[in-house]
Amino acid sequence: MSEIALKSQRSYSPGLEGIVAGLSAISEIEPKDERLTYRGYDVHELSQFSTYEEVAYLLLMGTLPNQSQLQVFSKELVKNREIPKPLLESLKYFPKDAHPMDMLRTSVSLLSLFDPDREGHSHEANLKKAMRLIAKIPTLIAASYRMSKGEIPLEPSTDSSHAQNFLYLLKGEKPDLDTSRVFDRTLILYAEHGFNASTFSARVTASTLSDLYSAVTAALGTLKGSLHGGANEHAMKMLQEIGEVSRAKNWIQDALIQKKKIMGFGHREYKNGDPRAKILKPLARSLAEKFKQVKWADISDILEEIMLREKKLYPNVDFPAAVVYYVLGLPIEIYTPIFALARIAGWSAHVIEQLDQNRLIRPECEYTGPRDLKYIPVEAR
Ligand SMILES: CC(C)(COP(=O)(O)OP(=O)(O)OC[C@H]1O[C@@H](n2cnc3c(N)ncnc32)[C@H](O)[C@@H]1OP(=O)(O)O)[C@@H](O)C(=O)NCCC(=O)NCCS
Repeated sequence: MSEIALKSQRSYSPGLEGIVAGLSAISEIEPKDERLTYRGYDVHELSQFSTYEEVAYLLLMGTLPNQSQLQVFSKELVKNREIPKPLLESLKYFPKDAHPMDMLRTSVSLLSLFDPDREGHSHEANLKKAMRLIAKIPTLIAASYRMSKGEIPLEPSTDSSHAQNFLYLLKGEKPDLDTSRVFDRTLILYAEHGFNASTFSARVTASTLSDLYSAVTAALGTLKGSLHGGANEHAMKMLQEIGEVSRAKNWIQDALIQKKKIMGFGHREYKNGDPRAKILKPLARSLAEKFKQVKWADISDILEEIMLREKKLYPNVDFPAAVVYYVLGLPIEIYTPIFALARIAGWSAHVIEQLDQNRLIRPECEYTGPRDLKYIPVEAR
């Protein structure tokens, strides 16, 4: 942590690094042990044995569901997959070259106008809104993407899992279960991550007693940046630019000489490796082998080895996730929306937690500008 002493004798940490900005019982990051838990459960186990639906329930309700609770929750999600017709209609007026993340931020904001609980801000009303958002965000992403390509949006499936439904909505065909399961595991790993920038931004918005949709819209804007959710897109573009295994070593060495930021590497909290990246790396390789695109895993390994040797930096979750999504044939510009599709569960849980014990988030800043200036009338300046 790099604290800076201020003239006022207070201390300040740029980027709020190392500052505890709130209390939360949703997830715990233990960087020393390279461990991440959701509500006390290790993500290793969750990503291996549970599903995104189960994890979303866990994050929102605080406990793992039993069989019938999971069934009711999953059915409710399926029931809520459709988006209101006027909203679907309005997507066709979005510019064809709009970025999917901008379309998602705007369409989530529009969606709020149609929510039957939009005036309700109780814990229960927010849970209902959260479930609608979880169910509808995949439809919004797929519909706006397809329409921007001049394709007809598809009706959500009523008999497939959250992960399978999204892949179907986007591509028009259901993937096999093994393939959609890898996608599902990426969603579990992206679902929640403490006071990261977008979640913090959602909590700040909620703390003014605004509403869940406004908080999620703020979070979406925050996630978009390349230092946060945008990194998965940039990581894949970098791998594409490298293109061949034989070019990887020189490319990364040149990039480091030019002091370029290598997207998908480094993390504010995990300085010894991101557990999510460790879980995803072998999955990305086996998927790449299955789809005969192993070069992306090979290029990734070279980058990883050199980044560790030269910079002591490890890949974060976005690095192997980019390979998984590319090999699945997903368009690069929707990788960050996919991150949002998963993180909506974490954002909602945080907004609800914030409101359950709310205190306005309003930090201070140290003034560094000029003082005691004398006003001069405009004609005399
Ligand atoms: C995530 C990130 C913002 C964390 O940053 P941070 O905790 O503020 O760490 P810093 O930016 O202070 O990095 C410390 C040093 O490592 C370097 N570094 C960090 N990440 C780097 C990267 N991806 N590529 C090259 N150098 C990097 C910094 O330049 C800095 O070097 P310096 O001390 O010589 O100036 C940063 O690692 C990053 O920008 N990564 C790339 C974007 C990314 O993948 N984001 C997704 C995060 S899940």
